[in-house]
Amino acid sequence: MKSSIDNIAVIGIGVIGTGWIIRFLYNQKKIKVYDPNIEQKKNLLKEIKRVEPTLKKIYKKKINLLKQLEFSKSLKDAVKNADLIQENAPENENLKKNLIKEISEHSKINSIIASSSSGLLPSKIQSKCKNPKRLIIAHPFNPVYLLPLVELVAGKQTDKKFINKANIFYSNIGMKTLILKKELPGYLSDRLQESMWRESLHIINEGYASTQDLDDAIIYGPGLRWSLMGTFLTFHLAGGKMGMAHMLEQFGPALKLPWTKLKAPALNSKLKNKIINGTKKQSKNRSVENLSNLRDNFLIDLQKLLSKYKV
Ligand SMILES: NC(=O)c1ccc[n+]([C@@H]2O[C@H](COP(=O)([O-])OP(=O)(O)OC[C@H]3O[C@@H](n4cnc5c(N)ncnc54)[C@H](O)[C@@H]3O)[C@@H](O)[C@H]2O)c1
Repeated sequence: MKSSIDNIAVIGIGVIGTGWIIRFLYNQKKIKVYDPNIEQKKNLLKEIKRVEPTLKKIYKKKINLLKQLEFSKSLKDAVKNADLIQENAPENENLKKNLIKEISEHSKINSIIASSSSGLLPSKIQSKCKNPKRLIIAHPFNPVYLLPLVELVAGKQTDKKFINKANIFYSNIGMKTLILKKELPGYLSDRLQESMWRESLHIINEGYASTQDLDDAIIYGPGLRWSLMGTFLTFHLAGGKMGMAHMLEQFGPALKLPWTKLKAPALNSKLKNKIINGTKKQSKNRSVENLSNLRDNFLIDLQKLLSKYKV
């Protein structure tokens, strides 16, 4: 479906704002950008130049900076005609609340205001927004011009119609949208990353491993599989022919062992059924063997890539 969003404003052009700008440019969008730190203009132009040789390999169309990109001297000028405003200021609830208020006062009343926040609740940051129905979270992953995932999160006052519009827009610029059922701090992906991060910090703190050991523990094992399958489908295969049901039977008791500092939920039949049925659905009727072949072929190709790009 075609998106009605043509004019975009990007507010805050640090790491993430820059990533968004590059993705928007290569998708032939017109953008007005604003950052109170004028030094960021230089950094942005440098970054656009740096990624050009790489992005030529995946984006078919070239960008035309003169026609597509405009630096605004004020927030008001940047947002006044925008259909979508992508906010990328620092992760601070009060700062975002006030910035979103200001954006909402100067923008068209039905423009989408999308915050790139990594985990703040949209209900909180929309509290001072004029027409808060249009405030959404659109949480991307660095580097935004290459990684497709964007989590879309509605707050209590958000109207679903803005999530639907955003869904079409981000899908049209090559992204994989993940619409959350309910808002929660850290959303989905960062909660998963954060749990591993916290565990890693415990391990480091107690002297069990180096940062290199922990990175190798991911890079050469689970990380390779994760590029293709998430935790649930991966563990479904770990259960052999019986899939997730056998996996739970074998490793269910380990949830009581001190394998993590995080407290696991009780593995009751309701939770078991949810994850067995969930992985069954994910498998799309393919057998464990069939999925294993798919995974193995993928892992071989991926390891070739790893040796080519490894630092
Ligand atoms: N870095 C990541 O990997 C990552 C990933 C996903 C989401 N995010 C989120 O994106 C947002 C930006 O993070 P970042 O890593 O790009 O930060 P950053 O520090 O690189 O950039 C922040 C930019 O905001 C500007 N800024 C400061 N005050 C402002 C204001 N009042 N109005 C407009 N701009 C202002 C700064 O000058 C700076 O250029 C945060 O909400 C963060 O949680 C970050």
